[in-house]
Amino acid sequence: MRSVKEQKKIFPPDFQWGVATSAFQLEGSPYADWTTWDPLVGDNPCITDHYKRFREDLKLLKELGVNAYRFSLEWSRIQPRMDTWDEEAIAHYQEIIDILRSYNIEPMVTLHHFMHPRWFMERRPWHRPESIEQFLRFTEMMVSTLKGVRYWITFNEPYVILLGGYLEGCTPPGLKDPPRSLIALKNIFTCHGKAYDIIHRYVPDAQVSIAHNMSVFAPWKKWNPLDRLLKKTANYFYNHSIINAFQTGVFIIKFPFSRPVEIEVPIKDKIDFFGVNYYTRIHLRFNPFKKMGVELRHLDIDGHGLTNIGWEVHPRGLAKVLRYASRLNLPLIITENGIATHDTEMKVKYMKQHVDVIERCLKEGLDVRGYFYWTLIDNYEWLQGLDARFGLYRVDFDTFERSPTHAATYYSYLIQSRSELLRAP
Ligand code: GAL
Repeated sequence: MRSVKEQKKIFPPDFQWGVATSAFQLEGSPYADWTTWDPLVGDNPCITDHYKRFREDLKLLKELGVNAYRFSLEWSRIQPRMDTWDEEAIAHYQEIIDILRSYNIEPMVTLHHFMHPRWFMERRPWHRPESIEQFLRFTEMMVSTLKGVRYWITFNEPYVILLGGYLEGCTPPGLKDPPRSLIALKNIFTCHGKAYDIIHRYVPDAQVSIAHNMSVFAPWKKWNPLDRLLKKTANYFYNHSIINAFQTGVFIIKFPFSRPVEIEVPIKDKIDFFGVNYYTRIHLRFNPFKKMGVELRHLDIDGHGLTNIGWEVHPRGLAKVLRYASRLNLPLIITENGIATHDTEMKVKYMKQHVDVIERCLKEGLDVRGYFYWTLIDNYEWLQGLDARFGLYRVDFDTFERSPTHAATYYSYLIQSRSELLRAP
């Protein structure tokens, strides 16, 4: 047996072990577009009461032993009206950063995590050219005012914004309008490119990315050529077209039997690391009676089970998407990965399985620099409400009491054991 000293460290000492949250999902906001969009939020306006209880919640991070924390700024609290900046709200987020720094926890700030001030969505949604100027004003205000942040995420899951808001119509602005979705795509990525420059102007050593939702796709029936074609199309569009656009400055959107669309965007090389949100695998079936001929399913093929919200647990898929992303030759950070379940042991297993996959990827030579578990405490989940239960800490939504699940203890253990020398086999 090798002695402890001889064993190889797999996770680098500066590996970011974190958790990720988003402001609205914890705090709500009286000024956000979503507050009027989903009546459930109207009935539970402060969600977990995190806006008031943030100091005690940040202590949980210390208790866990993480060295990084990803959170978002609630734009609608900061700029509740187009011509009003709320100083108190800005000071609130600065205090979060200061507390994190005092705990030696690296802040990673998301500027846009799905949410907008109501005035923005009513008058300047993403398909309107003024959206660019408005978002950049917000960006510059934040980057010039907040002190102590190196890691910035401009947009969380830009494709999800477009799919939900412009194709499915299930999130604001609630459109089902493919031509406008392409204009919105151009505007959002133009914002990213310009925001990248603004951030670097104020924070020269900044590390800037988006958090891209990556999924593994599979044909429902392997023998069916149409299911296989759908898989290929979805995989290219969802996983690869963004990676290509960061390399070339051009989005190429290709769907079967139609001419590819090319959209130029000023994002070539405007990225310092690549943020990957990974949760699941999706099976696809051609079905002429469904929208765009596609039916989506989660099948429990590996036998790891389905989550509370019906997603397949598929840890191997994480390696697949990290390999795709490694084409960028940039550091990779898993900016979100987590499971919705009431079953704590399932949560523990999910976390271990995904961290094991990262370990294998590191051995394989992939440049993975961080892992952020989604999420710290139970929160509001966009389409599923308050019972998704992604949290390491359980929240009682009547009393707002937080209590650790076994997954919290396990995450602390995982961080400690993987950061140290590995035990002999
Ligand atoms: C992500 C999203 C998060 C959270 C998570 C779990 O796509 O960025 O806000 O909702 O999914 O569903």
